[in-house]
Amino acid sequence: MPKKVVIIGAGNVAFHLTEAMLQNTVNVVQIFNRTLDNARKLAGKYNISFTDKISELERANVYIICTSDKAISEISCHIPFEDCLVVHTSGSMPISALKGKYRKGGFYPFQTFSKKRALKYDKIPFFIETENREDELTLFTLARRISGEVYKTDYEKRLQIHMSGVWVNNFTNHLYHIAHEICEKHNISFDNLKPLIKESADKIIEGISPFEAQTGPAKRNDKHVVEKHLSLLEPDSRLYQIYSLITDSITKTYHDKL
Ligand SMILES: NC(=O)c1ccc[n+]([C@@H]2O[C@H](COP(=O)([O-])OP(=O)(O)OC[C@H]3O[C@@H](n4cnc5c(N)ncnc54)[C@H](OP(=O)(O)O)[C@@H]3O)[C@@H](O)[C@H]2O)c1
Repeated sequence: MPKKVVIIGAGNVAFHLTEAMLQNTVNVVQIFNRTLDNARKLAGKYNISFTDKISELERANVYIICTSDKAISEISCHIPFEDCLVVHTSGSMPISALKGKYRKGGFYPFQTFSKKRALKYDKIPFFIETENREDELTLFTLARRISGEVYKTDYEKRLQIHMSGVWVNNFTNHLYHIAHEICEKHNISFDNLKPLIKESADKIIEGISPFEAQTGPAKRNDKHVVEKHLSLLEPDSRLYQIYSLITDSITKTYHDKL
C-alpha cells in the first residue's frame, strides 16, 4: 500500500476517489487543483491539505491525476518528482500522455461519476496499467482497498472498454433523453417508462444476454409497426434517421437472411 497519495483535480472522479480511499484508510495527503476553491471544497470535507500551486505539491508515493483528458499531459509535466508513480484515470488516454521522469500508470475506474450521486465503490471495476510489476502490485493493492473488481489491462483494451461504456451508458442515456422529450411533448409522464427501463436493465444484470433480451417490432420484423412509428417522425429528421438506423441494425441482427 502506498504510504502517501496525492489527488490532482477536484472534479467528479477526484471527489469519489478521494471519498472511496479515505473510507478505506488510504492515506490521501493533499488535493491539488487549478481552481483553489474547488480544491478547498473537496479537501475541506476531510480536513486534508489542498493547493493550487505546483511548488506546494507534497511528496507522495502515488499521484492520481483526475483532470479532464486534455489537461493530463499539461499538468503531468509539472510534477517535479522522479521517485514516484503518477497515474491518470482516463479510459481513452495512453499512459504515454503522462510527461515526466517518474514511473507511469493508468488507474481507470469504470463507472459514471457525478458529485451529486452517492456511489457504492466495492463493485466498481478498476482497470490498471503500469510499466513494471512492482507498480502493478501497488495499484492492485490500492484499488483492492476500494473494490473487489480489479483487473490488469493495456491501453488498446482500455479503449475498447471505454467505448463499450459509451454504448451502454451514454448512448442509452441519450435514447432516454429522446423518449423523455417525446413524453413531454405529448403530455405523457416519463414515470410510466421507469418500470420498463428497470426491467430492461434487470434482465441483463440478472444474466440474460442482450441478444436474448431483445423484444419489439424490429426484432419481430414487424414492418407495419415500424412504418407507423416512422410516420410519427418528421421524414429525414435526426430522430427519423436514428430510429431507422437502430431498427435496421436490430433487423439485420435477427433476420440477416431476409
Ligand atoms: N466522470 C466519469 O464518469 C469518469 C469515469 C471514469 C474516468 N473518468 C476520467 O477521469 C478524468 C476526470 O473526469 P471528471 O469527470 O472527474 O472531470 P470533471 O468533473 O470535469 O473535472 C475536471 C477536473 O480537471 C481540471 N481541469 C480541467 N482542465 C484543466 C486544465 N487545463 N488544467 C488543469 N486542470 C484542469 C478541473 O479543474 P477546475 O476545478 O479548475 O475546473 C477539474 O478538477 C477524465 O480523464 C475522465 O476521462 C471520468
